[in-house]
Amino acid sequence: MKKLLMMALGSMVISGAVFAAPFGEEADVNYSKKLWTALNSAGLVGDHAIMSTPYTGTHPHGAILDALDAKATVDGEEGIVIIKRNYGGEGVSKQAVADNPAMYLKAVTVMYKRKGYDPDNHDWFWVKYKPDGSLHLNPKGMQLAGMIAKGANAGCIACHTAAPGDDMVYNHDRYAKGM
Ligand code: HEC
Repeated sequence: MKKLLMMALGSMVISGAVFAAPFGEEADVNYSKKLWTALNSAGLVGDHAIMSTPYTGTHPHGAILDALDAKATVDGEEGIVIIKRNYGGEGVSKQAVADNPAMYLKAVTVMYKRKGYDPDNHDWFWVKYKPDGSLHLNPKGMQLAGMIAKGANAGCIACHTAAPGDDMVYNHDRYAKGM
């Protein structure tokens, strides 16, 4: 009886590991914090972050967007990072955002190339930050950091799979496979 119970407990632990979500787990959240700190000290997010010229966006990103490509170092590894800032709210326009980005910033969506992280999806680590660096949640309350939402038919990975150039990036094809 005791042995049976041990076996049952054991398989619960195993299935717990197998069914861990591909995103929003503690390790993903911790990594997103390290990435935010790296981006913040590089002047790429946070107060007075460098920005590009705002442009009119497309769904599901904001009404107005600005985007930057850069590099960031996390845990001693340098990786490509693409930062897209999503602006919205009453009175939003390209000019209004250019004049006062902080007033309209709703989300900072980031793709960070993390060596060996997710070879199925070009090693991108996906994050949707709030302007203060904390994480947006999906409707189920899961934190948006990691392989969002690997295996599902909607979400960052599913939609970005359709990007031209087989690199999951819409705006350009500079990051060929293996970079
Ligand atoms: C329904 C489709 C769709 C979903 C879902 C989506 N995106 Fe995008 N994303 C796009 C499109 C289209 C562009 C390029 C057009 C633009 O500039 O708005 C883009 C652009 C980007 C870029 C700039 C690099 C590029 O591909 O051009 C980043 C970074 C980004 N998205 C991150 C994310 C993250 C993180 C998520 C999930 C939290 C996400 N996206 C979900 C469609 C999507």
